[in-house]
Formats: sequence, C-alpha cells, structure tokens
Amino acid sequence: MTDPAALAERLRDAKRIVCFSGAGLSAASGLATFRGDGGLWRQRDPMTLATPGAFAAEPELVLEWYGERRRRLAEATPNAAHAALVPVTNITQNVDDLLERAGASDVVHLHGTLVRDRCHAACGYDEPIDPADPPVAVRACPQCGAPMRPAVVWFGEALAEATIDAAVEACTAADVFLVVGTSAVVQPAASLIDVARDAGATIIVVNTESSAASDRAHHEIIGAAADVLPALLSAED
Ligand code: OAD
Repeated sequence: MTDPAALAERLRDAKRIVCFSGAGLSAASGLATFRGDGGLWRQRDPMTLATPGAFAAEPELVLEWYGERRRRLAEATPNAAHAALVPVTNITQNVDDLLERAGASDVVHLHGTLVRDRCHAACGYDEPIDPADPPVAVRACPQCGAPMRPAVVWFGEALAEATIDAAVEACTAADVFLVVGTSAVVQPAASLIDVARDAGATIIVVNTESSAASDRAHHEIIGAAADVLPALLSAED
C-alpha cells in the first residue's frame, strides 16, 4: 500500500497519464459493479443477459434490463473520481457516460456505451439514446431492417479493432498508468495493463481491495476511487 500524497508529486512530472478503469470508478455514483453484490435481476444472473444468445432468445427481457440500467444512469451523476480524471487519457470498461459528463473528452470505451443503440447485424447504423427514456421494444434498423440493440460489447463478442488499436496506442505512450476500480479479470481488457507495463509505464492500482492487477502494480493504493484520485491527481503542491 502506498500513500497517495507521496505519489502525487511523481504524477505532476508525468508526460502522459493514462487511466484504465472499471465499475469501481462509478460505484460512488450509485451504479452497481459486476462482481460486487448487485445480485440477481428477476432471478437471472445479469451476466447471462449480456449475451447475443439472450438477445436472440428473449430480446424484450434484455431490453428491459438495459432500460433499467439506462434509467439508473440518467439519474446518476459523476463523482469526484470522474472529475479528477478529466485531464488524463481514459480507457474504460464502463458503459456509462459519467467521465464525459464530468468533462473528459479523451475516452476510449472498450466495452461500448449505454447512450447509443446500434444495428445488431453491424450494417454500420447507430444512433443516440436518451437514457431517461430508453427503448424497451425491439425496433428495426432503419438502414437494413435487423434488430437494433444497445451499442455495448456482450460476452462472446469481439472488441472493435479500432477501439483496441486506440487503447494499445495510449498504453504504449503512457509513462504513468492508473488501474482504477477493476477486478482485472475480463480479457482482452485486462491485458492492457501488461501492454503499458511492458512499454515502461509506472503502474498504480487504486481499488478498495486487492485484485488480479495487484501483482502487476508498482504501487497499490487500497481505498475508494472518489477519495484517492482527487489527492493523487491534484495539481497543487
Ligand atoms: P468488477 O465488478 O469485476 O470489479 C469492480 C472492482 O472495483 C472490484 O475489484 C472492486 O473491488 C472495485 N471497487 C468497488 N468499489 C470501488 C470504489 N469505490 N473505488 C475503487 N474500487 C472499487 O467490474 P469490472 O472490472 O469493471 O464487461 O468488470 C470488467 C468487465 O466485466 C465489465 O466491463 C463487463 C463485466 O462483465 C462487459 O460487459 C463486456
């Protein structure tokens, strides 16, 4: 465990800080983590709903679940950790838009976003969604007629190549790589930590408990992101 104040000075000299984040970043905004105690949704493990198979078998149920998540997102607000990350390059596994709403512009969404829908047949059509008023019925893609779906990456689906390229480019350019609020067990996302480490970045892990990223950390801070990051990234001496 390392003291955030002691590391803050090292960060002030950094040329390119990149933050790789997961659900723990948005926990203080009231959005559930994946492997926390969010529990079942209508007797279903949410992980079984985030799949192409579930969408094929029970599309309305899947859209209802996303509808609930989107409405919760509409009510959520960015926390102090999102605000602290505004000046850095962000690679996030989160599908919420709280970094952008805090003011961040340099954000790679590895697993897509809840605030857009896209054509399930990947014809290229996508459109913005108002999370406060999400679609809950299956709609046809206006371009090709296939069903529309949330523009997120489901289990069993590949990440977009351009997204991976942008993430790897940022990892390679980082001299400081923050790993915030992620269990670091989902691939290929978690392997980005090794890409940054192999390219020479200092790895700083921030999490409320130890994780699969712990053994790759040069420094590990055990604490809540909203408490730790403002101190870590403060521009003040
Ligand atoms: P997880 O739920 O697996 O992990 C959340 C991590 O955040 C855990 O390690 C917690 O200890 C930590 N945590 C919780 N509250 C925190 C806080 N306030 N401050 C700091 N850390 C905190 O979520 P992810 O790692 O994001 O993929 O999960 C990765 C991917 O698995 C997700 O993007 C999603 C999921 O299945 C897809 O949807 C493809």
